[in-house]
Amino acid sequence: MPTLGRAHRPRVAITLGSGLGGLAALVQDAVQTSACDIPGYPIPMAAGHAGQVIVGTLAERAVVVLQGRAHLYEGHTAARATFPLRFAHHLGAHSVVITCSAGGLGLAPGSLMFITDHMRAGPGPGLGLRGCPAPYDGAWMRRAQQAAIKHEIDTVRGTIVWVQGPSYETQAEIRYFMEHGAQAVGMSTIPEVLEAKRLGMKVLGLALITNAAAGLSPEPLAHQEVLDCARRMRVVLGRLLPEIVRNAPG
Ligand code: HPA
Repeated sequence: MPTLGRAHRPRVAITLGSGLGGLAALVQDAVQTSACDIPGYPIPMAAGHAGQVIVGTLAERAVVVLQGRAHLYEGHTAARATFPLRFAHHLGAHSVVITCSAGGLGLAPGSLMFITDHMRAGPGPGLGLRGCPAPYDGAWMRRAQQAAIKHEIDTVRGTIVWVQGPSYETQAEIRYFMEHGAQAVGMSTIPEVLEAKRLGMKVLGLALITNAAAGLSPEPLAHQEVLDCARRMRVVLGRLLPEIVRNAPG
């Protein structure tokens, strides 16, 4: 197992959501460690999640990439699912880009949405995770969106609803979320956002809309559709992610 030492003091962490793990290839001078070799690290089981920690350089910034994530719907507690955030913070990260795939409520598949706020459906991730009234760093988001415009990458802003999963939502739930002002729905990210805020980190959330949410398309929803869309979006995300990291605070 490679040793992560003082030479690897990443300032910016990046979590890669479903099907986005391939973006880790953007990291230069990469030192890669398998999640299995890090005591306490939750091992992701969902398809499209690799379970690696990669330290290196992206956009001339020292970064740690958390490739693959563990979800609450796999049976992990919130404390265990958010271990990677504490690990990245311990390595030195003060800022984190949290990416996810999400269903679109009126947003087309392929849309890139900067998360401005979130709602928790049902009981919420709870379990000792403290809520936070304004978790997303507005200044970082504005800089990143300006950079996206400069690079002719279309992005939108919106609110995401957190659901525990693993089953997709009912059509009635989706109607309810839309009526209450949400633009996206996903099963990850919010536990990590809350933990990052507890640790005092700056957070940027980026949702990749991989599918129309349940009932908004004639086709039934399938995880493969999520992975296929995420893979198709890798090129554009590969251009956007370095700009987000370049504009990270500190
Ligand atoms: N719902 C919840 N989570 C998701 C979806 C969805 O439609 N797509 C990707 N993650």
